[in-house]
Amino acid sequence: MLHTLDIAGMVCPNNVFLAPMAGYTNYPFREMCRALGAGLTFTEMVSAKGLHYKSEETKQLLLCGEESPKAAQIFGSDPGVMREACESEALKDFDLIDINMGCPMPKIVKNGEGSALMENFPLAEKVISACAKSGKRISVKFRIGTDGAHKCAAEFAKLCEGAGACLITVHGRTRDKIYAGPPDYAEIAAAKAAVRIPVVANGGIWSLKDAERMTERTGADGVMIARAALYRPTVFCEFTGEAEPPLFALFERELEETRRLYGDRFALVFMRKMAAFYLKGRHGSARGKQRLFATQSVGELSLLARELLAPEK
Ligand SMILES: Cc1cc2nc3c(=O)[nH]c(=O)nc-3n(C[C@H](O)[C@H](O)[C@H](O)COP(=O)(O)O)c2cc1C
Repeated sequence: MLHTLDIAGMVCPNNVFLAPMAGYTNYPFREMCRALGAGLTFTEMVSAKGLHYKSEETKQLLLCGEESPKAAQIFGSDPGVMREACESEALKDFDLIDINMGCPMPKIVKNGEGSALMENFPLAEKVISACAKSGKRISVKFRIGTDGAHKCAAEFAKLCEGAGACLITVHGRTRDKIYAGPPDYAEIAAAKAAVRIPVVANGGIWSLKDAERMTERTGADGVMIARAALYRPTVFCEFTGEAEPPLFALFERELEETRRLYGDRFALVFMRKMAAFYLKGRHGSARGKQRLFATQSVGELSLLARELLAPEK
């Protein structure tokens, strides 16, 4: 199922992407997934308003390197502020800017942002076309609708294409389902059939087999993986056929990079959480998790992770 994907002249080495995940897809994590085989990675969602006010915290979320191609995700509902974000210095190194129109979090939705834009077609269209006027490649990530009675993936896909998006990602769940349940293949297939731009399918992909099922049933040009990569970043190796590097070695590298970029305190707190994800499903993982969260320094965490994430006999 793996093939290159041309997105308005930006050629991705393959069509299996790492999803944006708030609080997780920082630069070291994205780089690890890219090295393991992800064809494109996305920053977590970044507030266009935050960029407008030149928030340091917001800029931290956009740390990146020379790797290419790379994508950032922004959210917001003011067309002017969104266009300004696309034109900002902070986003200049990114080859693609994705607009979040799927976030279900109440604090985002009540501001008219994220998935609230799926309930306001005229504003969604204005936001996308304003962003497209920046001259950057623009994509949109959205859900199949707000609930079972309001599914609109094909209509919304057409709107995105008409407003100037060069790629869409369809998360095959309605907003009320958050992340639960199987993806709705028929809705994603309808979105794919409605447009000529590439369509990436997302939702419930935990393995190569799931991805194959997704592309067969929807005709999507690629897939996007979120939670599976948190638990098992080596999921990308299933697609490339490359040997999986040992987990503790990956962890150590990620810890070192996280520490270098964000400092010891952040590295300790963040990487304890990551180690707990990587531990899931292993023998004694509950006790291991307790021990991880009791570590008080990066050095201590590193030693413990080496023990807990060593290959299982
Ligand atoms: C912790 C977490 C954070 C997320 N943050 C974002 C985000 O910043 N932007 C976005 O578009 N989707 C976000 N999502 C949704 C994922 O990108 C993806 O659409 C969803 O998890 C479904 O894919 P999955 O079934 O492979 O997990 C997030 C999901 C999780 C679990």
